Amino acid sequence: MSSLDFSTKIGSKRFSNPIFTASGCASSGQELSQFFPLTEIGAIVTKSIMTKARTGRATPRMAETPSGMLNSIGLQGPGIDAFLENDIPWLVSNSAKIIVSIAGETVDEYGVLARRLRAVPGISAVEVNISCPNVENRGQVFACHPDTAIAVIESVRRNIGGELPIIAKLSPDVTNIVEIAQSVINAGVDGLALINTLLGMVIDTNTMKPKLAGKTGGLSGPAIRPVAVRAIYQVHQAFPNTPIVGMGGVASGRDAFELVLAGASAVSIGTATFGNPTAVLQIRDQLSELLLEKGITDFRDAIGFAHRGV
Ligand code: FUM
Repeated sequence: MSSLDFSTKIGSKRFSNPIFTASGCASSGQELSQFFPLTEIGAIVTKSIMTKARTGRATPRMAETPSGMLNSIGLQGPGIDAFLENDIPWLVSNSAKIIVSIAGETVDEYGVLARRLRAVPGISAVEVNISCPNVENRGQVFACHPDTAIAVIESVRRNIGGELPIIAKLSPDVTNIVEIAQSVINAGVDGLALINTLLGMVIDTNTMKPKLAGKTGGLSGPAIRPVAVRAIYQVHQAFPNTPIVGMGGVASGRDAFELVLAGASAVSIGTATFGNPTAVLQIRDQLSELLLEKGITDFRDAIGFAHRGV
């Protein structure tokens, strides 16, 4: 039986397989590690960390929707000091491949976070989350405007130093995602994470009020997969040399394959993990079987396959 080269690259960094966790859905991996060693997955992408500890938004902050869910967590987290003191050493001691996700309220805050991470050993990349839908001030969704997206990435690039790849996480809630991708590529990113959740809302028809305390929230799950496939396809078509970490409603190896065919170099699993903590491993194994079934022995040959001859 043929064997599969399942490795992938984002910037200068190599990952043993292309299945990652999605930021925000597995914290820093402590809970998942009860179910499997974190070395089994390509990388753990940590919950977006900010400079200060945050309790997040008021509850309720999750609501089920048809084929998905809404969340309005509000970037709850311990803040960069506690994260560097506790989470990173724990992940390093578990030999996990680490992608640290960062989020800020201002351009300067992103720069501060990048500077704090620059000399930290054991990190493979930084995901710059400029697309959180749950910020109080909607003007702070940096990924919705080319100028603000560029300002954040330039600040991170200036402060991060060295060779640490920068991955910008973009929002699908824009008219032209290719234009935003172009801006952050020009500003110096090594990769893109596509897509964050879509802004949505659910109203409880019994109470006649919004179900989420924060009123709006980010929609994830299978309902958004076609949006993710479209965004990845469009961006890969425009920038075939920029690696994309794809995500959005992936619940099986076949779903992951769809994102890879559209142009993803890696696939992050989020919402599926809530119902099944071993979803990441199952999806990894299903994807590798599917690739071999198709006669593909090098994962990288599948990336963007849907574009060929079209
Ligand atoms: O509210 C949240 O913590 C979600 C963050 C995100 O989707 O980027």
